[in-house]
Amino acid sequence: MANEQQSIHGVWASRWVFILAATGSAVGLGNIWKFPYMAGVYGGGAFVAVYLVCIALIGAPIMLAETVLGRRGRQSPVNSLRSLAQASNASPRWAWAAMIGMIAALMILSFYSVVAGWALDYILGMGRGAFAGISGQGAAARFSSLTDDPWRLAGWHSLFMLITALIIARGVVAGLEKALRIMMPMLFVLLVVLFGYSLSTGHFMEGVRFLFHFDLAEVPAGILAAMGHAFFTLSVGVGSIMVFGAYMPRHASIGRTVITVALLDTLVALTAGMALFPVVFAAGLEPSAGPGLMFVTLPIAFGNIALGEVFGLLFFLLVAIAAWSSAISMLEPAVAYGVERSGWSRPSVTAVIAALCWLVGMGTVLSFNVLADARFMVTDDTGWHWFAWTDSGGRTFFESIDYLTSRILLPLGGLSFCLFGGWVLSRDALREELSLKHPWLFPMILCLLRYVAPAGVIVVFVTELFK
Ligand code: PFF
Ligand code: NA
Repeated sequence: MANEQQSIHGVWASRWVFILAATGSAVGLGNIWKFPYMAGVYGGGAFVAVYLVCIALIGAPIMLAETVLGRRGRQSPVNSLRSLAQASNASPRWAWAAMIGMIAALMILSFYSVVAGWALDYILGMGRGAFAGISGQGAAARFSSLTDDPWRLAGWHSLFMLITALIIARGVVAGLEKALRIMMPMLFVLLVVLFGYSLSTGHFMEGVRFLFHFDLAEVPAGILAAMGHAFFTLSVGVGSIMVFGAYMPRHASIGRTVITVALLDTLVALTAGMALFPVVFAAGLEPSAGPGLMFVTLPIAFGNIALGEVFGLLFFLLVAIAAWSSAISMLEPAVAYGVERSGWSRPSVTAVIAALCWLVGMGTVLSFNVLADARFMVTDDTGWHWFAWTDSGGRTFFESIDYLTSRILLPLGGLSFCLFGGWVLSRDALREELSLKHPWLFPMILCLLRYVAPAGVIVVFVTELFK
């Protein structure tokens, strides 16, 4: 039987290590950087509400499906799906879903590495005392001076990609556990410290109201953005969780594991949001500032509390580490597939793939400065164009890759994995992998995989078309 085998790439020591690795993948820039700025851009409460519903009804079930498929298949996502499809007499074309997911993960890595590079730059800035007593304007100016400088961005991007590749080249199973066991709790403690600061700003309730005030009329505007972010934040739809599932020991409860990971991820995102927005309002900044939000807001908090620079340095260090543990999981599906397919060594495969990602990432580096006016998917009075050189409308290179992955590829990948788990994988196989304590849970999960989650994705896509 397939699931008696072990993966050639390694096996986690226990269910607990899988939780650490999956949480390491899930918790990252998506929670601390992207969630707050997306919530800001899409007006707060309505975005957050849709995001939470998507986590529960779409993201978590898909995470469950991916874990099951990975553990059952025991190979890279592409080969797992291919062999599972064969076993069910289904079309080998299902493997395409994993192929597209794998490419989407690499596209995400290309810009993720650039943003993680910003955090590296801030570690240095905190260490040098560049933020002491800084004002909102000062912090904004410092952030633009970073993004305006392609060389500085490229340097940090290269360093981050190099370290990610080095870890992957040695194999994920070794080393990851030790690092994450200490870092993840520390990151959370520091978020709570920031949360404490935000309580003291006098604008705490304003922040909370912004994040949780729900207005139904505002839902359609950000609905696809919120669903896309639910995929992004849980690392689902790309095969990252599937590849980690392949290294999961046989007798570990998948259901409880998935719920733990989804809850931890949500907790970190909401804590980050509640730590950030009060500071945004207190400093008179715009919540809709976009990707710079965290990098402008947090230095104000750190610049104005006792021992702020020490906390700040530690915080950005932890953000960088959280980003690494996510970046690793973006690279792993492709590296595992490359090793299976080519028979090359793990380090060689890693070097080639990381170099490609680095190159694409240079597009994101330049999209903040030299190529800021190179826009894709532009509509203006002369109609619709793929590309235009303009300073209004359209999407920069960074925005295009982000849009294409989060809003299109991840939901489509996730939809395929979910349908595969619900309809193609035999019921017996699914039941065996889940090995639920309570038999009545099985029909519920089957219903989520077969109907609820797929319908959710489709409804959001359709709503987006007609909003
Ligand atoms: N979940 C990560 C975050 O929230 O930062 C981002 C991510 C990791 C996306 C892995 C996709 C992925 F495959
Ligand atoms: Na996340």
